Amino acid sequence: MFTDLPEYPWQSLKPFREKASQYKDGAIDLSIGSPIDETPQVVQEALRSFSNAPGYPSTGGTTQFRESVVKWFASRRNVLALDPDQVMPTIGSKELISWLPVLLGLGKGDVVVQPKVAYTAYAVGAAFAGATLVSEDDPEKWPTTTRLVWINSPGNPDGKVLAVDDFAKAVKRARELGALLASDECYAEMGWSSPWDKEVIPSVLDPRVCGDSHDGILSVYSLSKQSNMAGYRAAFAVGSKQLIRELVNLRMHAGMMMPLPTQQAVIAALGDSEHVQTEKELYRSRRDVLLAAVKHYGFEVSDSEAGLYLWATLGEDCWKTVKKMAQLGIVVVPGSFYGEFATDHVRFSLTATDSDISRAASRLENALG
Ligand SMILES: Cc1ncc(COP(=O)(O)O)c(C=O)c1O
Repeated sequence: MFTDLPEYPWQSLKPFREKASQYKDGAIDLSIGSPIDETPQVVQEALRSFSNAPGYPSTGGTTQFRESVVKWFASRRNVLALDPDQVMPTIGSKELISWLPVLLGLGKGDVVVQPKVAYTAYAVGAAFAGATLVSEDDPEKWPTTTRLVWINSPGNPDGKVLAVDDFAKAVKRARELGALLASDECYAEMGWSSPWDKEVIPSVLDPRVCGDSHDGILSVYSLSKQSNMAGYRAAFAVGSKQLIRELVNLRMHAGMMMPLPTQQAVIAALGDSEHVQTEKELYRSRRDVLLAAVKHYGFEVSDSEAGLYLWATLGEDCWKTVKKMAQLGIVVVPGSFYGEFATDHVRFSLTATDSDISRAASRLENALG
């Protein structure tokens, strides 16, 4: 058994969940970013209508699947020049993130770069491959042995958005190094503060970022959040044709295929921007309520310009804050889960019902008397 990985970090929140559950009207769990609103009817209907699927699905995705991704990038992400052969389905994006270094053949001596404050799966991927993990945001400091760079915009947990210039610098440096730049972008439709409440959040595939070539870059996207499809495992990756061809080949050998009914559900989801807008408005009102309460309690909120989290600090060790929140019956994630540069922050998730969000807000607002 592979033993280099520690126990899944969420296990260590168990005592705080127990503490929170002793609160007089129960625990409110804001630690998990798992969507709770219904999967849109248009998506459910597509899944049902394609439930007869006796044959194996194609690993590279049906033509209609790949074309629907191309269309979505053109209409929602400012990326006009894509070819369907640059697209590949993934079974949610976490599996791709965790296995990409292995699929790329990385190993000892190779460096995988991740953001200083990072979603946990990038480190898992580096560990699976036996590669060295470096947490560094400044492209100039990426080591010469770098083979893969993860950037994440909007970021989990910090909700930070990379502007076109930041992205372009990352692309330039990765190309100099001959490293693959992989950009994890699944919160791109959830922008809150100016300018991202109006402007399209850039993709690494945007010509202002990468010029007219997609060589050496990969955009990773998921419908788990914006379409409440986490249970479908519905995601895709888009990049240079050669890279996609090679990845599809490996994934074909390994049987890593998105089920056909899910492919159809993705096509339906990408063809309907209305439900994404509806979901965004729900999150906006939850965010407004929770943000006011978190600030009222005394938190300083960092970044959190986009995405489904509030990234906040009381200026103390995160575990102390986790404990304070558990005493109010609220479960939050300690920043230490996201690396050594985040130990004074905690993450509040917006993926809770309106009622839970407003109950959490009242607890925070009334806590100080
Ligand atoms: C930044 C980021 N990337 C990827 C994922 C994985 O999404 P999924 O595997 O559901 O597609 C998540 C999920 O929380 C995430 O926050």
